[in-house]
Amino acid sequence: MTSRTVIRGGLVITAADEMHADVLVEEGRIAALAAHGSAPAESWSRSADRTVDATGKYVIPGGVDAHTHMELPFGGTSASDTFETGTKAAAWGGTTTIIDFAVQSRGQALRQGLDAWYAKSDAQCAIDYAFHMIVSDVNESTLKEMDGLVGEGVSSFKLFMAYPGVFYSDDGQILRAMQRAGENGGLIMMHAENGIAIDVLVKQALERGETDPRYHGEVRKALLESEATHRAIKLAQVAGAPLYVVHVSAQEAVAELTRARHDGLPVFGETCPQYLFLSTDNLAEPDFEGAKYVCSTPLRPKEHQAALWRGLRTNDLQVVSTDHCPFCFSGQKELGRGDFSKIPNGLPGVENRMDLLHQAVVDGHISRRRWIEIACATPARMFGLYPKKGTIAPGADADIVIYDPHAEQTISAATHHMNVDYSAYEGKRLTGRVETVLSRGDFVITEREFTGRAGHGAYIPRGTCQYLN
Ligand code: URP
Ligand code: ZN
Ligand code: ZN
Ligand code: ZN
Repeated sequence: MTSRTVIRGGLVITAADEMHADVLVEEGRIAALAAHGSAPAESWSRSADRTVDATGKYVIPGGVDAHTHMELPFGGTSASDTFETGTKAAAWGGTTTIIDFAVQSRGQALRQGLDAWYAKSDAQCAIDYAFHMIVSDVNESTLKEMDGLVGEGVSSFKLFMAYPGVFYSDDGQILRAMQRAGENGGLIMMHAENGIAIDVLVKQALERGETDPRYHGEVRKALLESEATHRAIKLAQVAGAPLYVVHVSAQEAVAELTRARHDGLPVFGETCPQYLFLSTDNLAEPDFEGAKYVCSTPLRPKEHQAALWRGLRTNDLQVVSTDHCPFCFSGQKELGRGDFSKIPNGLPGVENRMDLLHQAVVDGHISRRRWIEIACATPARMFGLYPKKGTIAPGADADIVIYDPHAEQTISAATHHMNVDYSAYEGKRLTGRVETVLSRGDFVITEREFTGRAGHGAYIPRGTCQYLN
């Protein structure tokens, strides 16, 4: 017997449409949609094993967070969410797919790094997951390995213009990796900050006794983000390769992407909720509290936010992911007391993205369909997961969120599910809340209760970027 679930009476929202429709789920997939009240929809309800009343609610695709770092070893410590805790928190927040970054360490093969990530995540995840590959050692043999990874479903590679001595690649290495991606169909993702120049400014700041968290924002200058963004675009153009710039925060970097796109280049940009909702005011909070907001690229002065919102509306920025990389204040962020350069870089947020972006709808920054586009559909297309993920359509995985657009909530570490002792959005009041979440037809969250399990989540090999042909 086929198990059938019907979600009745909600407003189904995709990147393309809004319609009052009932959704039929069979065997983990969306079998059909029909207008609410129509004859087929009424007949499904009579024969369903389970009917969910979504009257007055939104029925949206599960979120696709294309940038997370569960259990990442970084800054002398390790990101505090495991694949289990982090994916459970993601589900609570209406995200049903994450793409995490496997890491090649210096001197390792890509294979070793990727296998380590397969092992860490195996049978741990509550929702589906996929991987990008961080390449920190571009050489003859890793370039060859990239071809195999694209075929294996790891079709995107993050390179760093920042963090000399750790993940950093020089321009020659970047160019070679881009040339390879241009040939094998991979997508290069760039951390665009001039890390060599930043390290000079860090040293000079510390010599002047400027040790507080706010100096992290001052030395990692917007100009050094826009310079690196510009350079990455030109290198990609020379290589004949597409480019995806991660965690864009500076308005000058948005301008570089906008210009490149108007020139017709296949250049894409991602921003994150922290850059849309937080600022250098947070980094300047007293008593070392600013450490909670240390990430790279850094938070910018509030004035930059308008350019990010505008980029999201004009499609000069296409994706909002979290860059979820949590470190506890106690014992982890505190490693940098007296030296901001020793504060582990990263913010928690995988649980908050869908809600914060819904708040952006409420606040009038974006439309409801654009919310779904930047948080679900485009990340799925960008990284070769569409239409399995990112939409509500016949044949798609039944990754569905029932969202109450009127519920009020206040974000707090006391109630969140991420394994981290603070919230970057503590006390922020939001309108809208996730109520029920299905992952491939299974109820992972049922009316605000966790009903999923670690190990339900499947590893999803990806195709290549769907914006290139
Ligand atoms: O501060 C950040 N973003 N930490 C995570 C690593 C990265 O660069 O994305
Ligand atoms: Zn980065
Ligand atoms: Zn434009
Ligand atoms: Zn990241």
